[in-house]
Amino acid sequence: MSMALFDTHAHYDARQFDPDRDQVLSALPGQGVELVVNPGCDLASSRKAVELAGRYPFVYAAVGVHPEDCGGWTDEDVEELRALAGRPKVVAVGEIGLDYYWPENPPRDLQKRVFRAQLALARELDLPVIVHDREAHGDSMDIVREFPGVRGVFHCFSGSAEMAKELVKLGWMISFTGVLTYKNARKAVEAAQAVPLDRIMIETDSPYMAPVPHRGQRNHSGYVGLVCQKLAELKGISSDQCSRATLENGRKFFRI
Ligand code: NI
Repeated sequence: MSMALFDTHAHYDARQFDPDRDQVLSALPGQGVELVVNPGCDLASSRKAVELAGRYPFVYAAVGVHPEDCGGWTDEDVEELRALAGRPKVVAVGEIGLDYYWPENPPRDLQKRVFRAQLALARELDLPVIVHDREAHGDSMDIVREFPGVRGVFHCFSGSAEMAKELVKLGWMISFTGVLTYKNARKAVEAAQAVPLDRIMIETDSPYMAPVPHRGQRNHSGYVGLVCQKLAELKGISSDQCSRATLENGRKFFRI
């Protein structure tokens, strides 16, 4: 029996895949990976994501500017994102959000402006959003609440179980990475337990966040089964049930 898995967040445009990108991607269907969404982090990487989606039938793209990469943002960037969002197989705006972790990140006011501009674009285009929130839970929630018509997912969820429940109430999805498998993952585990299965998606965030026993190595979508296994364990269901449910959730969310 082989699982059908949906890795809802992987960065194959990242330079870590320069030496063997096509090899890694071509091997994924043989590893049970049925679908991948590749979000962009800036305009160049969003273009690459669209290109990869054009080359691989199982790859879909999201386009957006990541908070860590928004330092050079100009308001015309939204025009280019709008054009990119119209390309085939673009299923979301992302990844977008707030990242207060690194002191050298772009100023918070700029991050917020860029986040709001892209939420407005998603609302205009009726696309879901993929949100990156690191050490910025309060501001992320406040801004998301300003856009009640927008549907989205908090990817690589790092908030509390309370926050996860709040997002679910607002109609949002929660997505978990290999962090679930880490020894110190108490928070993510509690959040996964608190969220109903039909609101959960799984992802690798490749090339980062490789699940145990590959922690620290370059990640790829072939490892998303390990995230699925861990989630299944937490939910008290079989891995097969878990892969089917999360695949279905992802398809619905991204309208694939
Ligand atoms: Ni990411």
